[in-house]
Amino acid sequence: MSITRLFRVYTYLYRQTRYPMISPIEGFSKLTKEEKVDWISEKYTQNKNASKALLKTYWNTDAGVQKLHDEFIENTISNYYLPLGVAPNFLINDKLYALPMAIEESSVVAAASKAAKFWLERGGFKTKVLGTEKVGQVHFMFTGDTGKLRSFFQKVKPKLLQSASSITKNMEKRGGGVTDIVLRDQSDLLDNYFQLHCTFETRDAMGANFINSCLEQFASTFKEEAKAYTDFTEAEKDIEIVMSILSNYVPDCLVRAEVSCPVKELLVSDSISAQEFAQKMVRAVAIAKVEPHRAVTHNKGIMNGIDAVILATGNDFRAVEAGMHAYAARNGRYSSLTDAAVENGIFSFSIEIPLALGTVGGLTSLHPLVQWSLEVLQHPSAEELMQIVAVAGLAQNFAAVRSLVTTGIQEGHMKMHLLNILNQLGATNTEKKTLIEHFKKNTATHSAVVDAFEKLRN
Ligand code: MEV
Repeated sequence: MSITRLFRVYTYLYRQTRYPMISPIEGFSKLTKEEKVDWISEKYTQNKNASKALLKTYWNTDAGVQKLHDEFIENTISNYYLPLGVAPNFLINDKLYALPMAIEESSVVAAASKAAKFWLERGGFKTKVLGTEKVGQVHFMFTGDTGKLRSFFQKVKPKLLQSASSITKNMEKRGGGVTDIVLRDQSDLLDNYFQLHCTFETRDAMGANFINSCLEQFASTFKEEAKAYTDFTEAEKDIEIVMSILSNYVPDCLVRAEVSCPVKELLVSDSISAQEFAQKMVRAVAIAKVEPHRAVTHNKGIMNGIDAVILATGNDFRAVEAGMHAYAARNGRYSSLTDAAVENGIFSFSIEIPLALGTVGGLTSLHPLVQWSLEVLQHPSAEELMQIVAVAGLAQNFAAVRSLVTTGIQEGHMKMHLLNILNQLGATNTEKKTLIEHFKKNTATHSAVVDAFEKLRN
């Protein structure tokens, strides 16, 4: 028997002894929270009492707040904390903001704050919303004469809009609604595949529920009307609705943020001239423009800032991530979401990204910390939040690329990570203070921190 096989058998037997046979459970969602905690701790952890105690430690002492969190999702057993930090000094279109950021990565808030301060002294960030169009689609299959389908669509389009009027009424009062419905022939991609490609204005709401409700109504009216359309053959009447759903790809819900200053004002350290720094920044972005491996990491740095503000403001970071990465690949090659240039002695750094955000509805009116974050941001409209979030992404990218082309990323990263390592090692407050001082003058790698800690203890 090979060593690998032997190891696998050993691991299997070990697991069998540590974890008893677990059988499927019926009606788990109907158990009380306490019962769920008991069950999961008993079946899947080795020390059920420690597991139960840990989960309960994270319950909120305010029963009302806890109930709120319990009801956000199904099968809640506890809360999962992320730190909520604040990055001050963001001057955006001449208005000063402090950005709430929910994130676990140690250096992100520090980097955002540093970039904010840097640009505060150079005129701040300028932003502009370029579009606010949201998208949803009814995907359907049609077999028959495409010309007849087009005529049918033209006839039925007003009826589609009319049939959704009870859903759109309130949104229209707020200046939003359905902006258009277009029939798209996609049968070159997939046999018999067509879409109702619908566009929406959802004002301060992210609009997912509104869009999906409209789409489902359009789909049902479309199908019913087709059945009664006398020009269609029996096969043509039998339109198959596959699904109706919003799209998280919103290339026309677009925002731009930019910073600029004379190159000579780009003095970031004594070890690099302003000209050389500007040139390196431009080159680093040029690399991320053409090389997907670098572009992904470059954009990940942007998302550090974006996701943190999105989470703090109760928006859907998965939706934004999916849409932004699709946008980054819109020209057929995954590329940087930021641009950098030097022209006529002026350095400029900018970002243009699709962001479908909301400041009303969803978590925004439910989660107390989300409400707090929106208050700190001075109750922004969705358009204002788009601009703030774009700035968070641009600032984060500036900070990351600045470190990369100067000191390297590890210096700042390890400084912030130092406290995490010291906590893992169980350092006391006095030990932490001494070692933080020590690493102001020494390079903080993981092993250097462990060595210094052990030396201090012994
Ligand atoms: C780390 O979270 C983000 C960076 O890798 C981004 C970048 O490389 O540009 C530092």
